[in-house]
Amino acid sequence: MAASTIITLKLSSFFSLLLLLSISGVSSHSHQNALRGTIPPTCKRLECPTFDAIEMGDGYEIRHYNNSTVWMSTSSIQDISLVQATRTGFRSLFDYIQGKNNWEQKIEMTAPVITEVSASKSSFVVSFLVPKENQANPPPAKGLHVQRWKNVYVAAREFGGYANDSNVAVETAALRASIAGTDWSGAIDKSHRDGHVYTVAQYNDPLEYDNRVNEIWLLFEMETERHAI
Ligand SMILES: *[C@@H]1O[C@H](CO)[C@@H](O)[C@H](O)[C@H]1NC(C)=O
Ligand SMILES: *[C@@H]1O[C@H](CO)[C@@H](O)[C@H](O)[C@H]1NC(C)=O
Ligand SMILES: *[C@@H]1O[C@H](CO)[C@@H](O)[C@H](O)[C@H]1NC(C)=O
Repeated sequence: MAASTIITLKLSSFFSLLLLLSISGVSSHSHQNALRGTIPPTCKRLECPTFDAIEMGDGYEIRHYNNSTVWMSTSSIQDISLVQATRTGFRSLFDYIQGKNNWEQKIEMTAPVITEVSASKSSFVVSFLVPKENQANPPPAKGLHVQRWKNVYVAAREFGGYANDSNVAVETAALRASIAGTDWSGAIDKSHRDGHVYTVAQYNDPLEYDNRVNEIWLLFEMETERHAI
């Protein structure tokens, strides 16, 4: 093979790599890091939950969310697919914020939309973060209920692109692996005695192509409170 051909091949695979990276919405700074310590771009436009960062670990981040975290949640959705279940749940939550609630009240969009996955039961609960303004008195709606977090710890891992059933499984396994053997694993295992429960947080609208941010969350409780770093 002539040297020029090799160079052309090398260049073309370099460009297809770039193309691939841009197609999958992966930006070089965000994807490889399992955690960022900075806020997702969406949260510059929309209200997102506040939390205290407790530890930036290797492949995970530990956070503490207090009682200013309130969700409007669907009832349990039976489906074989996270993507389908999230779509179904999001539709009711979107109607809800557009005014399809008992008070015909419109509510501002927030981020993220979270899907709690109970893998052993193939069931999903999809939730919308209630803006602070509405937390004291969120309008009720048929089929939806309020969940107020009290003192919730989360082990989080970030990933880019569109969340789907296979990458969510891969990222959840990676998060569990990165936590194994840390100080947190006891408390996390204890809160997950019933097995395969985890939460997928998606920060972007499905039509937003670039800079997509998703996280896997493992929720847990601590007997003694831990403080922010
Ligand atoms: C909840 O935590 C956030 C972030 O640390 C803080 O700004 C807020 O004041 C806290 N709210 C309450 C009610 O403790
Ligand atoms: C939230 O917690 C703070 C103290 O941590 C307390 O003063 C406040 O009443 C709580 N709010 C609700 C809605 O439970
Ligand atoms: C899921 O997303 C990954 C990238 O994170 C992609 O490689 C894979 O093809 C997607 N799978 C499906 C079924 O869309």
